[in-house]
Amino acid sequence: MRRYILGTLALLASAGFMLSSCGGSSSAQSPFERLGGEAGIRKVVDDAVPCLATDPNIGIFFRGLSADSLERIKVCLTKQLCAAAGGPCTFPTTITYTSPVDGVQRTFTCRPMRAAHQGMVGPDGKGIANDDVDSFKACVQKSMQKNGVPDDLQQAVLNILESQRNDVVDDRNK
Ligand code: HEM
Repeated sequence: MRRYILGTLALLASAGFMLSSCGGSSSAQSPFERLGGEAGIRKVVDDAVPCLATDPNIGIFFRGLSADSLERIKVCLTKQLCAAAGGPCTFPTTITYTSPVDGVQRTFTCRPMRAAHQGMVGPDGKGIANDDVDSFKACVQKSMQKNGVPDDLQQAVLNILESQRNDVVDDRNK
C-alpha cells in the first residue's frame, strides 16, 4: 500500500512538472509577461520619449514639460500599460517616483485619461486632436520596433492606446 501511495505521488509530481513546463511557453504568457514586465514596459516608454519630444506634430506638448512632469508621465504610462496588459498594476493609481531634479522620492496620483488630457492647450489653442493620438501611437510603435517587440504584441499595445482615444482627444476637436 505504502509503495502504491509513493508511486502515485511520483506520477502526480511528474505530471505537475510537465504542466508547469508547458506553462512556460510564450503562448501561455500574458502580454505583460511577454513585454518583460514593468521593466520591459518602462524601457519602451523611455525610448518613445525622444520621438514624442521631437515629433513635428506633438513635440510642442512635451518639450516644455519639467523633468519631474516627464518622469511622472513615464511612470504613469508604464503603470497604465502594465494594468491593461494583464500585469499586477491598477490604473489610475498613486505612484512613488524619484525626482530626476533632486533625487527626492515623491508621490503623485496618476489621473484618468480624460482628466489628464481634456482642455490641454496646443499651439493652435485647440487641444489634442485625432492625428496627435496617431503621432503618439507611432512613437510608441517605433520604440517597440527598436526593442524587438513581436508584431502581434505591438498590435496589442497599440490597441490599448487606441482604446484611450476618445478620452484623450479634446472634446472641441470631435
Ligand atoms: C492614447 C494615447 C495616450 C495615452 C495612453 C496617454 C497617457 C498619459 C498618461 C498615463 C499621462 C500621465 C497622467 C497624469 O498626468 O495624471 C499623460 C499625461 C500627459 N499626456 Fe498623454 N497619453 C496619450 C496621448 C497623448 C497625446 C496625443 C498628447 C499630446 C499631443 C499627450 C500629452 C500629454 C501631456 C502633455 C501630459 C502631462 C500632463 C500634465 O503634466 O499635466 N498625451 N498621458
